Amino acid sequence: MRRIRLSFANTQVEFVDREKALGQVRDWAEKGTFPVQVVYGPEGCGKTAWLLQSVELLKELGFDVIYINIPNKEVLAEFSITDLRSRFLTLAREAIAQNALGKLAWLAFDMAKELIKLTRGKIAVIVDDAFQVIGVKESALYVKALLNLIEYPPEMYERIITIAATSEGVSRREIGRHTWAEIMPIWNMPREGFRQLYEQVPGDKPGFEEVWRLTGGNPRILEELYRAGWNTDRVIEGFIRGRGIDILINSLSGSEKRVLAETVDDPDALFTREGVPLMDKLIELNLVLDISDRKPYLWIDEPPPEKDPELGIGRRVAWQTPLHREAIRRALEGVRP
Ligand SMILES: Nc1ncnc2c1ncn2[C@@H]1O[C@H](COP(=O)(O)OP(=O)(O)OP(=O)(O)O)[C@@H](O)[C@H]1O
Ligand SMILES: [Mg+2]
Repeated sequence: MRRIRLSFANTQVEFVDREKALGQVRDWAEKGTFPVQVVYGPEGCGKTAWLLQSVELLKELGFDVIYINIPNKEVLAEFSITDLRSRFLTLAREAIAQNALGKLAWLAFDMAKELIKLTRGKIAVIVDDAFQVIGVKESALYVKALLNLIEYPPEMYERIITIAATSEGVSRREIGRHTWAEIMPIWNMPREGFRQLYEQVPGDKPGFEEVWRLTGGNPRILEELYRAGWNTDRVIEGFIRGRGIDILINSLSGSEKRVLAETVDDPDALFTREGVPLMDKLIELNLVLDISDRKPYLWIDEPPPEKDPELGIGRRVAWQTPLHREAIRRALEGVRP
């Protein structure tokens, strides 16, 4: 498989690791997906990079592939039928020009249907990050429509793969209420894979152990640290401001603040009767994740380590990254760099 190249830290890096996750795509290529696979994981953990590498893999395995990334306004069409490809790209460009991004998601769906009719072959539809744009209720309908494509296709087909990815806790929950999708979590990168990415970052940099402790294997945080000249305080300060962490903390009751302070030391403090309403808020703000079940087959790629207090990973709940936790800790203490 050709490894794709990605823009990262002012340079081009080669896609690294995620071997298990790519193996799972190979499995889907053999068996098809049923129901729709909804992949859910921390912001910046590498979902898009993995999906783009998967486009390459599926293309090599003889699939026609539709990939859309709604917030990035990015569309890939690896079709054997060139007419349909140019029609799709023209319509997609129009939708993007009109900022009709919800329309773009449905266009991908319509094109998948056309592809089934015309090729009856191997088709993959990959929808990256649509849920935030089309809203919670419509996301559930969209997933249902993708399932209908598998169950009630316009023609018989050889194989269909449908994958949707999101970092949004809210839409994950709404979709989880139905049986239309299998929700598969993905975690930050495993240590040795992350090291391969770290090694490709140019210039002077802190030692790997320090970077691992700050990022917990999250490539987006790695890139942010690089861009801030490895000034951790600056990244944390930007995080607190950008996420409205102060507003969150001011909105909490005294007892919620106490639970939050406990959560900094042990995220499982949220998995209590007192903690659950706060956990819902923190999930909604993309700060923590419910990671109760570690069975490897339930995860895309490797599940998080069993319990790692240093990285903010509990048995049932985890901070998305150690830096998320550090931002909360500082905001709670009113300590600012
Ligand atoms: N396996 C990898 N090899 C090389 N670069 C990677 C890998 N995974 C992620 N990256 C890079 O790290 C950055 C963040 O990853 P990416 O955008 O894929 O995360 P994401 O989970 O899609 O984030 P979001 O939740 O914001 O959509 C990107 O610049 C991406 O190219
Ligand atoms: Mg993404």
